[in-house]
Amino acid sequence: MPEIEKYGAASGSEAAGIPAPEGAGRRMYVKSFGCQMNVYDAQRMADILAREGFTRTDLPEDADLIVVNTCHIRERAAEKLFSELGKLRALKAMRAAQKKETKLVVAGCVAQAEGAEIYRRQKAVDAVVGPQSYHRLPQILQQANSGMFIADTEFPIESKFDFLPPPSPGQIRARGVSAVVTVQEGCDKFCTFCVVPYTRGAEASRPVESIIAEVEALAAAGVREVTLLGQNVNAYHGAAKGGPAVSLAGLCERISKVPGIARIRYTTSHPGDMDSNLIAAHRSLRSLMPYLHLPVQSGSDKILGAMNRRHKRKDYIELATNIRAARPDIALSSDFIVGFPGESEEDFEATMDLAAAVGFANAYSFKYSPRPGTPAASLPRQIPEAVKAERLLRLQALLYEQQRAFNAKMVGRTVEVLVEKRGRHPGQIVGKSPYLQPVQMEGRPERIGQIVRAEIISSGAHSLFARLLPGEASNEAFP
Ligand code: 5AD
Ligand code: SF4
Repeated sequence: MPEIEKYGAASGSEAAGIPAPEGAGRRMYVKSFGCQMNVYDAQRMADILAREGFTRTDLPEDADLIVVNTCHIRERAAEKLFSELGKLRALKAMRAAQKKETKLVVAGCVAQAEGAEIYRRQKAVDAVVGPQSYHRLPQILQQANSGMFIADTEFPIESKFDFLPPPSPGQIRARGVSAVVTVQEGCDKFCTFCVVPYTRGAEASRPVESIIAEVEALAAAGVREVTLLGQNVNAYHGAAKGGPAVSLAGLCERISKVPGIARIRYTTSHPGDMDSNLIAAHRSLRSLMPYLHLPVQSGSDKILGAMNRRHKRKDYIELATNIRAARPDIALSSDFIVGFPGESEEDFEATMDLAAAVGFANAYSFKYSPRPGTPAASLPRQIPEAVKAERLLRLQALLYEQQRAFNAKMVGRTVEVLVEKRGRHPGQIVGKSPYLQPVQMEGRPERIGQIVRAEIISSGAHSLFARLLPGEASNEAFP
C-alpha cells in the first residue's frame, strides 16, 4: 500500500462550498493524548501552525483547525479515536451551519497505524499525519484546502527536525521552566507486547548540534530543566560535527554546559542500553538528576523471554545495584505488565519479589492488553481478566507502599526545589525535588524559575509539603 494516499474531494464533507478563511486570525485547537513525546510533538505542531498564522484556542468550537494527536498505547485506542471523531464530526457540522469551515487532522501513533482507514471510517477527517511527517503540515493543509483527503504516514528520508521552526521565546515562556526535548525516536527492540516499533519506526537519533541549539534557545527564554525524550532514549547515538557519534552520557555532558540549564533528566530507558558511561554520568554530572525511569515489565525470566525483553531478572537487579553504587540516593521508577500470556502465579510472584528486592520510588503498572499486530496478541494462554485485575491490585499495593515510604523518608530533610508555578491556593508555589516529587510550599511567585532550598515538613503518597528556606540555591548539590 502506498504510504501517501489521496482521495478526491470529500463529497460527504459538511463544509463543502464554504470558503476557507484566509491569512492570520485563524484559530487552532490541538488535543494531545498519551506520552510526553506526544506533548512535545503537539507543541512542535502548534509552532509550525503558528507560523501559518494560527493562534491557539482552548475551545474546539472556536477552532478553524482541530488536530487530534493520538496515542496507540491506550487500550482500544482506535475505538476511542473513532468515538472522539464522531463528536468532532458533529462539531464540524454545527460550525458549517454557521458558515464556518473546520479542518480536522488526525496525528500521532493511531494515525500512523490506521492511515487512510481513518478516513474510510470517518469522512469528516481532512488529513491523517504520522509522527514522522508533521513537518509537512503546511503542505498537507494546503492540499486539504483544495478538497483532497491526505494520509501522510511515510517514514520520510528527511528528518522532521531539520524542518521544524524553533519555538519563539514567547512560546517557550508560556510553557514554563521545565521543557521536554525529543532526542531519539523509534525503537528496534520489538518487545512482543509493544506497538512502538511499528508506530514510531526504527530507532533514530537527532544530531547533537541540533539538540544543543534547541536547548540553548530554551535556556535563553528561561528554561532551567530539560527532559530528554526518546522511546529508547539511552540507545541515543547522535552524530556530532567533526567527531564520532555521541552517546546519551556525552549528550548530557554537553547539555550540562549550556548556561542556565541546572537540571537534566531523560526518559524512557531500556535496561539493555544502560551502559557504564551513563551510569558513571550519574556520579559525575551534578545536573543529571537522581531519578531514573527504567522499565522492567516482569520479574520472571520465562515471561521476560516471552516478552523478548533481552534482559534477565538478575541483569536488572545487578543494574539497580550498580546505579545505586554510582548515585546512592537515586530514585528508581519502573513500568510493569501483569497477566502477560502464560504468566503463572509463580511468575507473578517473581515480579512481586523483584519489586520488593529493588524498591521503587515510583512505578506505573498495567494489565496486559493485546495490541493488534503485535506478536503477543496471538500467543496462547491469554490470562483471564479477573486474574489480571487481582494481580494488578496486589502489585499496586506493594508499589504504592514503596512510594509512600520513599516520600515519608524525605520529612525533615532539606532539598533543592525547582519552582515551576503557582500552587492551587493563593500564596502557594509548587516545584519539583531532584527526585521528581512535587513540592508545595508558601512562597512568592517571583520564585518561579529559581532553585530554592526547602525543608520538607510532611509527605503524602504523591507530593511533599515544605517550608521555604531563605536564599537561592546556587545549583544542585549532592545531599
Ligand atoms: N499491554 C499493557 N501494557 C503495555 N505497555 C505497552 N504495551 C502494553 C500492552 N500491550 C506498557 C509498558 C510500557 C508502557 C509505556 O506501557 O509497561 O513500558
Ligand atoms: Fe516498546 Fe520500549 Fe520494548 Fe521498544 S523497548 S519495543 S518502546 S517496550
